[in-house]
Amino acid sequence: MAKVLIVYYSRTGNTEKMAHAVAEGVKLVKDVVVDVKKVEQATLDDLLNADGIIIGSPTYYGQMAGKIKTLFDESVKIHGKLSGKVGAAFTSSGGTACGAETTIISILEAMLVHGMIVQGRAHEKHYGATAVGRPREEDMEICKDLGKRTAELVLKIRK
Ligand SMILES: Cc1cc2nc3c(=O)[nH]c(=O)nc-3n(C[C@H](O)[C@H](O)[C@H](O)COP(=O)(O)O)c2cc1C
Repeated sequence: MAKVLIVYYSRTGNTEKMAHAVAEGVKLVKDVVVDVKKVEQATLDDLLNADGIIIGSPTYYGQMAGKIKTLFDESVKIHGKLSGKVGAAFTSSGGTACGAETTIISILEAMLVHGMIVQGRAHEKHYGATAVGRPREEDMEICKDLGKRTAELVLKIRK
């Protein structure tokens, strides 16, 4: 079985709701198991043991929240070992055009530095899943799609 790990930080619950919707999407794909962890509980071993890593953060000043950045900074200890794993990102922001895209890019950028593989999306939400405030039903669908696509790419790469 391939494994997808979802790591998120959430202070007021919006990113957390998105994380569970992303997990629902992963569960739609056969032969892939999913683990969802708050960033405070995620270890470097968790990252090493996953084939795909999806990270969610609230938009904080147009970037990933400090606790997510701390995990990346810690991950220098395993630098090179995440190479070839699939990565994806999602964020909850307070407003529209208020830094959600730059937040996702800040996460994907760190993943690329690790040598991870990131897939874009051709139609709408090109960089990852985003929602403003409390995620609506359509936002949850976009999250599910992110989980499903990431899991499918993991399987393709493992073949
Ligand atoms: C320190 C801090 C910085 C923030 N910066 C931004 C920002 O730059 N742009 C934005 O749209 N929202 C910003 N917000 C709002 C959060 O992104 C938003 O409330 C989000 O839904 C919180 O997610 P959570 O419920 O998972 O904690 C900020 C909130 C905090 C606490």
